[in-house]
Formats: sequence, structure tokens, C-alpha cells
Amino acid sequence: KSVAVVVVAAGRGERAGSAGDTVPKQYRSVGGQAILARTVEAFVSQPNVSWVLPVIHPEHEQRYAALGLGGDERLLAPVHGGSTRQGSVLAGLKALAPLKPDLVLIQDAARPFVPAALIESVIYSLGAAQGALPTLPVTDTIKRSLDGAEVVGTEDRRLLHAAQTPQGFRFGQIFSAHMRAASVRREFTDDAEIAEWAGLRVVMVPGHRDNIKITHPDDFARAERIISGDTR
Ligand code: C5P
Repeated sequence: KSVAVVVVAAGRGERAGSAGDTVPKQYRSVGGQAILARTVEAFVSQPNVSWVLPVIHPEHEQRYAALGLGGDERLLAPVHGGSTRQGSVLAGLKALAPLKPDLVLIQDAARPFVPAALIESVIYSLGAAQGALPTLPVTDTIKRSLDGAEVVGTEDRRLLHAAQTPQGFRFGQIFSAHMRAASVRREFTDDAEIAEWAGLRVVMVPGHRDNIKITHPDDFARAERIISGDTR
């Protein structure tokens, strides 16, 4: 089965920087290599991946070119994303449609430490399921509040799982689900939510603690520790 990968990197990446910091997080380096370059290479180095498509912000063309990626024909020229993550994923799916991949993995550029074994287990799960994503058990107790001040309840933590990427799907199914999702007034937080909403059967595979999404400034220090193998 042919596997395509959409790497969404079209965010402005501003939360991860201090005020006045102009380099968006996905173009910042950890361990001497840009985050986006690490994420792309994690997939290009997979023998069972046929195409990797980066989705970038239109204003980041030069930053992308400066990464010096390329040299592997499976890495496609980047396409431009939208104003939401959901719109950026859809732009990627539209660009992949002519290639008719069997499966597609959707990956946040901001997760550069995705282990090869995790990619394989997501692909493997798609043999039986229509959607698959890595998750980790939630270790914090989660409170519910309507106004951000008063607690109205406590979730049953045993039922909760934190979602990671890559999230994998049958290409045709997630493409049509995304097309329909784009026409309703609702914002979906991840692609698995769109698949669930479309009635697809989505399963979880064990995620990895190092597969972090670099979001806040202190995540860079954590990233450096992961690279140096010092994961406390
Ligand atoms: O902002 P957040 O870290 O949740 O974004 C997750 C991923 O989605 C990032 O890799 C970001 O670049 C991407 N994104 C996108 N287009 C947007 C917003 C976010 O590709 N409009």
C-alpha cells in the first residue's frame, strides 16, 4: 500500500517564541537542525513512505528553501497552508489527491521526535481500522469548568488519552471527511476528530513520551534533553 505524509508547518509558531522573536518555531533549531527538517527527515527515512508533502505558510517560502531539504524524490515541493490547521491539512490532501495514495499520515511539524516504530505501528493499525493515532494515558487529574474559575466536575482519568501525531487514515475516506468538515461551522482540533465525526472507526496505538509537540519556550530545553538522550 502506498503511504503519503502531510507535514503541517503553516502555523505562525508564535507561542513558542518570546516577544520580538521573529523565527517561527518550526524553523528554529534544536540540536543544530531545524525542527521542520527533523520532522520531514523522520518520514523521508522510512522505507514504506512514498511521498512527504510539507504544508508551509506563504510567507515562509525563503525560510523553507534555506533548510536545504531535497535530494530525495519522495519529498514533494511544499504547498501553502490555510489560516487554521484544519485548512492546512485540507490543502495538503488536495495536493496529494492526484497521486492517489492508499494511506495518508498527518503529522504536526512541531513534533520532530516521532520514532520510526511509532510510524510503523500507525500504518500497521490501518490494516484493520479506518483511522489510527498514537495516544498517551493522561496522568494529571482533569477538572471541568464552565467559566474558568469554578469547578463543576472531575473527569474520569482512566477514560482519557492525550492525542499525538502522526494520525493515519485511508486517503479517500479522510479526504472526503475533510471536504465535508470544511463546509460546516465547527472547528475540529485534530484529524481523528474529523474521522470520528464522519463515522470512521479510529483506534489508538501507544504513543511515545519523547514525541512532544514543541509549543512553549521551555519545550526547547526539553527538546535538547531528548536529543542528548537525557529524558527525565
Ligand atoms: O499551533 P499548534 O502547535 O497546535 O499547531 C500544530 C501544527 O499545525 C503545527 O505544526 C503548525 O505549524 C500547524 N499549523 C498549520 N496551519 C495553521 C496553524 C497551524 O499548518 N494555520
